Amino acid sequence: MTDMPTYRIAPSILSADFARLGEEVRNVVAAGADIIHFDVMDNHYVPNLTIGPLVCEAIRPHVQVPIDVHLMVKPVDRIIPDFAKAGANIISFHPETSEHVDRTLQLIHDNGCKAGLVFNPATPLHYLEHVMDKLDLVLIMSVNPGFGGQSFIPEALRKIAAVRKLIDASGRDIMLEVDGGIKADNIAQAAQAGADTFVAGSAIFGKTDYKAVIDAMRKELAKA
Ligand code: DX5
Ligand code: ZN
Repeated sequence: MTDMPTYRIAPSILSADFARLGEEVRNVVAAGADIIHFDVMDNHYVPNLTIGPLVCEAIRPHVQVPIDVHLMVKPVDRIIPDFAKAGANIISFHPETSEHVDRTLQLIHDNGCKAGLVFNPATPLHYLEHVMDKLDLVLIMSVNPGFGGQSFIPEALRKIAAVRKLIDASGRDIMLEVDGGIKADNIAQAAQAGADTFVAGSAIFGKTDYKAVIDAMRKELAKA
C-alpha cells in the first residue's frame, strides 16, 4: 500500500471580500484551509492589479497557516524582500518575469522563504531542468493568469503528470500546486494527475458556506 499523499487546500483571497479581509482569512482557515494563496498582479505582466506587501502584512496576524504569495509581477526581484518582511512563507514567480531565474530563487531563500516556479498554460517545463535543487514548490496554472473565475484548461493535467514524474525522480520534497478553475468536481482529476496542493478562489469565496465547499473537496480527494 502506498502512503496517502498529503493534500492541501489553498483558498485564493482574490475572490474574497476585500473590505473585510481579516475576517475572511480567519473564516476560511476555520473552515479547513491549509494555506492562504495570495495573488499579486501588476497590470503589466498580467492585465489586472491586485494587492501588495501592505495587505500581506495586514492579514498576517489573523492566521497561523502559511501565506503562499503568487507573484505575477515583472520585474519580480525588487518586491521579494518586501513580501518576506510582510510575513510570506512561500513566494513563487513566473520564469518570464525574471532575467535570472536561478538568482531569483536564491533571493527568495536568502529572505527566509520557500521558493516556487509558476508555469502558464503555454510555458514549457524546461525551466525546471537545472533548478530542481532550489525548488520547494512547482505551480501549474490551469488558466491564464490575471483573473479569478475562469474555466480549468484540461491540458494542465498532462503537465501536472509530467512534473510529478520529475519531482519523484528528484527525490526532493517539492509541493505540486495547481491554480485556476479548481472546484469539487475536478479536484480529484488534478490529484490523480499528481497535484498535492489545490488553489481555489471563486469555488470557495464565491459561496457562503466555506466549510461545505472545503469538505466536499476533501471528500473528492479521499476518492482520488
Ligand atoms: C489567477 C490566479 C488564481 C485565481 C484562481 O491568475 O492566480 O489564483 O485566483 O481563481 P479561481 O479558483 O476562481 O480560478
Ligand atoms: Zn494564484
